[in-house]
Amino acid sequence: MIQLQQVSKLFGDIKAVDSVNLTIQQGEVCVLIGPSGCGKSTTLKMINRMIEQSEGTILINGRENRVQKPELLRRTIGYVIQSIGLFPHMNVHDNIAVVPRLMKWERNRIDNRVLELMDLIGLDPALYSRKYLHELSGGEAQRIGVARALAADPPILLMDEPFGAVDPLGRLVLQNEFLAIQRQLKKTVVFVTHDLDEAIRLADRIAIMKDGRIIQYDIPETILSSPANSFVRDFVGSDRSLKKLARYDAAQAMKEPTAVNIEDEALRGILQDFKEKGYSFVWAVDSGYRLHGWIDVKHPLFSSDPLSGYSEISVPDVAVTPEYSLKSVLSRMLGQGIKNIPVIDKEGKLIGEISLHDIERVSES
Ligand SMILES: Nc1ncnc2c1ncn2[C@@H]1O[C@H](COP(=O)(O)OP(=O)(O)OP(=O)(O)O)[C@@H](O)[C@H]1O
Ligand SMILES: [Mg+2]
Repeated sequence: MIQLQQVSKLFGDIKAVDSVNLTIQQGEVCVLIGPSGCGKSTTLKMINRMIEQSEGTILINGRENRVQKPELLRRTIGYVIQSIGLFPHMNVHDNIAVVPRLMKWERNRIDNRVLELMDLIGLDPALYSRKYLHELSGGEAQRIGVARALAADPPILLMDEPFGAVDPLGRLVLQNEFLAIQRQLKKTVVFVTHDLDEAIRLADRIAIMKDGRIIQYDIPETILSSPANSFVRDFVGSDRSLKKLARYDAAQAMKEPTAVNIEDEALRGILQDFKEKGYSFVWAVDSGYRLHGWIDVKHPLFSSDPLSGYSEISVPDVAVTPEYSLKSVLSRMLGQGIKNIPVIDKEGKLIGEISLHDIERVSES
């Protein structure tokens, strides 16, 4: 648990952080968000003493951070920042191994830990261990930054706009990975972002800051449904029920898909049955349940050939995977102009479908 009690920071005459009280429970993700210059990074950096507070007390598991050596503190607190994170003259393996080396772990233990972490972040060690920063994409570098922060298994992670430099699509992938890792490791995380959707997706609690103060600190649902004042209301904007969709995954809204096997010899008869039962379309899969397209059973030429309404789809552009947020599902539906979206697994097998109606149901709940 991290507790900030009446914490302030003065830079000359500027009060960058002003009497902040904040408690972050063990295993929770606290997201700090607010306009540029409102004191988010300063708040974060005071926790591991990269910046010393001017007033107030910071307790980490009940112990004042001021009585602990900054070097030691930084080994039990992982730190991830945008872009600058990795050392350009070290390869990926050595970058991840920095803190374990400082802690004088044995070589074998370090190597095993690096392999374990690369597996966790989904980068193949055979391909990536020997690469340098300039040989990595922004998203890969960011993943390695996360792996490095996790290396010595610190109970606390501080993340300052860790995905800020990554393009929007890559950012969604990193957010989903972060959630998957966090569900497994349950670190206590303080996460700074500018991106409200990111805050809503990742946070257990959101702290909205302005001029060095915390204006509201609550679970995302409450921030959206009951903004504390007009500043928060303006900050979260008007489409609040849509924003709530970032809290839900495709997996939570999807239903059993209706599909036919296009390799089935009895396909035409099966389609006839679906039409008689009142269906308007079915998904088309092969014998391995891999998705290929859809069939419009209300097609005008259905009676002469039930397969008249078959359309192939570009699966990567249309289908989603279960870890997509419902907000991304909705924007894909709107972008593609479709009212039903297929959900596939990693092998491309159809495992569910989501309709606009399913999304409405969740957003109204
Ligand atoms: N080392 C410093 N010396 C003087 N003033 C500073 C210093 N660091 C930060 N400040 C000031 O303190 C205030 C808060 O800065 P901080 O970096 O915490 O903002 P932030 O919320 O992280 O902003 P951003 O979203 O732009 O990263 C700003 O007014 C900034 O100019
Ligand atoms: Mg900042």
